[in-house]
Amino acid sequence: MKKEEKKDIFEKITSLAKRRGFIYPGSEIYGGLTGTWDYGPLGAELKRNIKNEFWKNMTQEHENIVGLDAAIIMNPKVWEASGHLDSFSDPLVECKKCHHRFRADQLEKNPPAGGCPDCGGEITEPKQFNLMVETYLGSIEGEKLKTYLRGEITQGVHVNFKNILDSTRVKIPFGVAQVGKAFRNEITPGGLTFRSREFEQMELQFYTKPDKKESMKWMEYWKEERMKWYLSLGMTKKNLRFKEHEQLAHYAQAAFDIEYNTGGDSDASVGAGWKEMEGIHHRGDWDVRRHQEFSKQDLTYFDEETKERFLPYIIETSGGVDRATLFFLMDAYHEEEVKDGETRTVLKIHPKLAPYKAAVFPLLANKPQLVELAEKIYKDLKKEMMVIWDDRGNIGKRYRAQDEIGTMAGITVDFESLETEDVTVRDRDTMKQERVKIKELKNYINEKYQKN
Ligand code: GAP
Repeated sequence: MKKEEKKDIFEKITSLAKRRGFIYPGSEIYGGLTGTWDYGPLGAELKRNIKNEFWKNMTQEHENIVGLDAAIIMNPKVWEASGHLDSFSDPLVECKKCHHRFRADQLEKNPPAGGCPDCGGEITEPKQFNLMVETYLGSIEGEKLKTYLRGEITQGVHVNFKNILDSTRVKIPFGVAQVGKAFRNEITPGGLTFRSREFEQMELQFYTKPDKKESMKWMEYWKEERMKWYLSLGMTKKNLRFKEHEQLAHYAQAAFDIEYNTGGDSDASVGAGWKEMEGIHHRGDWDVRRHQEFSKQDLTYFDEETKERFLPYIIETSGGVDRATLFFLMDAYHEEEVKDGETRTVLKIHPKLAPYKAAVFPLLANKPQLVELAEKIYKDLKKEMMVIWDDRGNIGKRYRAQDEIGTMAGITVDFESLETEDVTVRDRDTMKQERVKIKELKNYINEKYQKN
């Protein structure tokens, strides 16, 4: 695909997302709130499916991983200990004329040759801008506690390291998976949900012995596992790559990103270049050591076999749910010629992620016998999977409308169905149609779309 076409896809996804109910601007009727987004009926299903697949893969398909769901608001000391209050910042510059703010590291040159990219005005020297979002708890003015909305979901796991050891039977090496909201006061939110101020992360914190060689072996293992996960859910291999970090975050000893190719030349916007989707980081013993220091609690691990006590090393996989949702949408978007110059838009999204597994159509909406049978099928399938009903317009139009949102199967109830007790099932990707017995329908869809 040429780079213009790829850039185009980002714009097409942006429009489809709003039009069909995947993603809406946050608080839109009040003029919106920069960096916030609301997921519509289809986006909520897609995002939930991605999170469910992550959760299942981590906590069910791996033996040594447990789950956690920690609070978003934590004791402010957590953020002192984690280093976020000192080091979680981006370099900010401001135009002295129009007062627009930019991230210095995202400008072509600093200061930019032509001055402010928006008005040409003079740009200030960069200063470090902390990304933590402040909040206040308590009802008595003057006694309110200043704290923060978590800047990463990670710390909820590390402050519970001891609780998990004491309440479960995990033994190092083991991992803790978590999915949840994080908040950052981003200087330049943008690219639809790509860089938001409120977003969701899906993470694994994996504890190993404090041994460089052993921990690097696990780092390699998790790099491969995470890449395999994206591929297993249908992402195109050539659109994914690893990129090693040149500059390390305050906690990291080594770091790689899984990047998605959004097409074109790399720049700060999302419709261009390779973009970070997930980070795989070697955090050393930074988090547990710092929490031990600041909380004055003993957070060491006792190894029953070697009789040694130590602070573990941590390998982290940290993915953005919103970025994954956006890139799964971009990757699945296709425009195809169907016949004689007629085209269709189809979201070839993996069956496990598709918002709807099937759509049920009575051939004619004004024939009660057809509607009655179709309704029975719809209600029966609904007990087991996400199904949508559509009785508007001709069948061709209904197929197109479902293709555009990635529905796997179109089920049409026609006059023959009343006699032969079968229906036409049309596959989203091949557009092939088959007659399937109504009593076999559930199995047919489960076998074909839910089971791989
Ligand atoms: N615990 C490590 C950590 O948070 P990060 O690289 O800052 O590492 C991990 O973030 C992932 O979270 C990123 O790869 C990205 O997918 C997602 N992410 C980070 N900031 C984001 C933002 N402002 N909007 C949307 N997603 C974001």
